[in-house]
Amino acid sequence: GVANTYNEPVHIGVIGGTGLQHLPSFTHAATINASTPWGHPSSPISILHHPSPSTGKPIPIAFISRHGLHHELAPHEVPSRANIAALRSIGVRTIIAFSAVGSLQEEIKPRDFVVPDQVIDRTKGIRPFTFFEGGMVGHVGFADPFDNKLADVVRKCGHRLEGEGVVLHDKGTLICMEGPQFSTRAESNLYRSWGGSVINMSALPEAKLAKEAEISYQMICMATDYDCWRGTDDVNVEMVMSHMKANAENALRFVAGVLDELSKEELEDLVLAKHLEGQMKFAGAIT
Ligand code: ADE
Repeated sequence: GVANTYNEPVHIGVIGGTGLQHLPSFTHAATINASTPWGHPSSPISILHHPSPSTGKPIPIAFISRHGLHHELAPHEVPSRANIAALRSIGVRTIIAFSAVGSLQEEIKPRDFVVPDQVIDRTKGIRPFTFFEGGMVGHVGFADPFDNKLADVVRKCGHRLEGEGVVLHDKGTLICMEGPQFSTRAESNLYRSWGGSVINMSALPEAKLAKEAEISYQMICMATDYDCWRGTDDVNVEMVMSHMKANAENALRFVAGVLDELSKEELEDLVLAKHLEGQMKFAGAIT
């Protein structure tokens, strides 16, 4: 049950990460202060209007700032169940999630973008990580943590911006660690030996919960540092923030390009996640 102050369903959601706390280029249409059985989301949901490139009609987008409006929530404090449930309850079936990441590979340079296709879970089980408990038993397939069809749309949009300063890596294995402390050098090297491409603290449980809710989900990552495996310039918060800030315009253009594409009529079935419908028998209960 959400106090919805917007009068039509919203199908596309964006979860903004560090350095992407607003989407300033969109028209603000409504603010929803949502409440769910799992508490309140990280921030009020902003409903933004985006003109469809094919029809000119305004398409509503639901935006949540993962770490709160003022970056007050640490990664382990993010109410992911409330975020996903609140988005689902207003009609969201597709989520583009954004995250700053550390690079575990020389060729992924700070300010490069990565559309990861795999995740290794290094959270510690202290974050509430499922909707399915208390009598609702469900086991969702998580072999592909992201949505391959949505990923292809995201990649296409990223490649369109190449030549305008955007460098995009089409796949990668994302390590999601607990934090809030960064990794030790031994851990950083271990993750490299596992084939890790990038590392963050935010992909999980968000991606798992989206899967349980039958929401098509893809994370867009932007590298802000080389973590600590190189032995020089070890990651710190200032480094993350300064690269995010310096490249925020490209990040915004990337997200806006994806929203343009998703607003096209021919992608309606993808946005509605018709291809996921009926996979989870309890997904409809998550509101
Ligand atoms: N987010 C940005 N850089 C990171 C790093 N090196 N480790 C974990 N999360 C990050």
